[in-house]
Amino acid sequence: METKYLTEKDGDQAAAILRAGGLVGIPTETVYGLGANGLDAQAVAHIFEAKGRPQDNPLILHIPEASWLERYCQNIPAAAWALAEAFWPGPMTMILPRKDLVPDAVTAGLDTVGMRCPAHPVCREIIRLSDVPVAAPSGNTSGRPSPTTARHMLEDMDGRIDAIVDGGPCSVGVESTIIDLTCTPPRLLRPGGITLEQLRSVLGEVAVDPAVTRLLGAGEKPKAPGMKYRHYAPKAPVTVVAGEPARSAAYIAAHAGERDGVICFDEYMSLFTGRAAARPVMDLGPAGDKEEQARHIFDALRSFDHTDVPAIWAQCPDSKGIGLAITNRLNKAAGFHIIEV
Ligand code: TXA
Ligand code: MG
Repeated sequence: METKYLTEKDGDQAAAILRAGGLVGIPTETVYGLGANGLDAQAVAHIFEAKGRPQDNPLILHIPEASWLERYCQNIPAAAWALAEAFWPGPMTMILPRKDLVPDAVTAGLDTVGMRCPAHPVCREIIRLSDVPVAAPSGNTSGRPSPTTARHMLEDMDGRIDAIVDGGPCSVGVESTIIDLTCTPPRLLRPGGITLEQLRSVLGEVAVDPAVTRLLGAGEKPKAPGMKYRHYAPKAPVTVVAGEPARSAAYIAAHAGERDGVICFDEYMSLFTGRAAARPVMDLGPAGDKEEQARHIFDALRSFDHTDVPAIWAQCPDSKGIGLAITNRLNKAAGFHIIEV
């Protein structure tokens, strides 16, 4: 199939394709999504085919406003309305008990469903015009880093989807925060654009799923099925070096092979780009600017797949604020191969 390239003015075309059961690449503020009509089980099945996604990994539904929660969810706790009020539209997904009209194809048979109200104006317009909840995972081939530009999504999906809408680069750069409201206390399943500190400011106590910060043992099951898969991984193996930035940069400079790729903070670029070095170096952004780092992390991981680097070394921020999401993505890309310096 030929993938139609649409711009933000073509929201009506994108909506028509969704209503007709097709697949559309949609921009969101977090990452690009691979959208289909979330009430059309057959269209949803095509998402799994296009991504090569395991069948037991549920999708989230994108809605234009919080009032739509009642259409697809039941027993909605007060906490959900409080979170929606504080952070929607925005990069937060809530896990809630679902109603029967949500197809099993979306929830992978679970009795809960992930609900998100995105902030990107183009995305909101497309959902509104299509007048259906849009099921959308990140628009990458399963296992690869999520796409934060239309070009990155086309690297994976050209010829596999009906259309893509280019809404510019994503302003957040990591996926939405997933908070499970079906347990007590509420549990963070995936850190993202809304920070743990922000969630706690509204909810009080919030537990953190173990899959967020460490590799699970055999027999342990994360609550978000997607967290168990190797993820965000470029082709070359990644080593994360955690610790104070000057120390982690020095460690990488001392240990990286001549041809190894490096992901580092702005301040240390010159350590790795000397005239003798043939290696690709990706700038994560200034050490003190985690928002900027979040916007660069997936680009950086993805860029090495155009090279033949034998290994990748990465600096990473501390886990305060959106740093928790950045370290989670880096650690997952590294299979939790982390060196503390
Ligand atoms: O920012 C985002 O959330 C992006 C954009 C496109 O909106 N979407 C996204 O979707 O990241 P996806 O499918 O790549 O990741 C959704 C995660 C998966 O790990 C999945 O297992 C989990 O959410 N999930 C979905 N439904 C769930 C449920 N009912 N219970 C627990 N986890 C769920
Ligand atoms: Mg994903």
